[in-house]
Amino acid sequence: MKHLLSTKDLDRDTAVGILDVAEDMADVATREMKKLPTLRGKTVINLFFEDSTRTRTSFEVAAKRLSADLINFTAKGSSVSKGEGLKDTAQTLAAMGADAVVVRHSASGAAQVLAESKWIDASILNAGDGTHEHPTQALLDAFTMRKRLHGEASRGRDLAGLRVTIVGDILHSRVARSNVWLLNTLGASVNLVAPATLLPSNTTGWPVTIGYDLDESIDADPDVVMMLRIQAERMHAAFFPNPREYSRQWGLDDERLSRLRPDTMVMHPGPMVRGLEISAGAADSSRSTVLEQVANGVSVRMAVLYLLLAGAAES
Ligand code: NCD
Repeated sequence: MKHLLSTKDLDRDTAVGILDVAEDMADVATREMKKLPTLRGKTVINLFFEDSTRTRTSFEVAAKRLSADLINFTAKGSSVSKGEGLKDTAQTLAAMGADAVVVRHSASGAAQVLAESKWIDASILNAGDGTHEHPTQALLDAFTMRKRLHGEASRGRDLAGLRVTIVGDILHSRVARSNVWLLNTLGASVNLVAPATLLPSNTTGWPVTIGYDLDESIDADPDVVMMLRIQAERMHAAFFPNPREYSRQWGLDDERLSRLRPDTMVMHPGPMVRGLEISAGAADSSRSTVLEQVANGVSVRMAVLYLLLAGAAES
């Protein structure tokens, strides 16, 4: 595998293989000496054209734990704000000897353009392209679910039979799309719940069921409830009357939380808007996996960097 652009094209064994390597990486994080020499001499560049806290730092920690050199290239303050395009930026990074480029861009397909271009020969890791995909987020979500389900016995297993409900701004969410494909590949079933205005107009071919009533979905006793942020920065129209109304109909509040089983997982990719899509009580409850997701993100990104950069030499 040279690039990681989407989860749609990952088969079950490859996906489970990534999660298994991530288990090994998680073991490293429990040692006093958290660093492995594996990627010494490799250069990883974080190329972020959109804001990010979690994902960018997570890749940075992951690269450093594997002893790679990590350079942060943020669009703000770089020549991109002077009008330099993706091509010039990519050629510049290639000339600097980048082995991997972690890219986040507001345009769907940006990572693929880089991977298919002749501008740069590095491994391309998609860290979010527009509303399209965010594969490492889905992998860390799957890792988190598998770990809560199977604990120490997780290796080699998928998510067969797991029932996952994803709630909120599906329309603008690359996290939702990457999760839909990966969860389906791993044997889970996915239920999407949102106001009709926040669902894509065409979901033909999506392996999901769709609902418009959060209370119904909660009473159907899901194993996982994944809440999504309202991606206001991608909205150029009014998709719901007002935040209070959204919260009342689509928010995971304390009352809805109390109707879930004690072992139902409450997930959120972050950043959370407490009081809008999720209450503080739900975000901080024992059902919440939010901080596990962040910790697991490092292990999963270590696994992906390892497989793309160290694995390449062996194959
Ligand atoms: C997500 C993103 O950027 O797509 N965040 C993340 O990577 N953890 C979701 C979001 O911004 O709401």
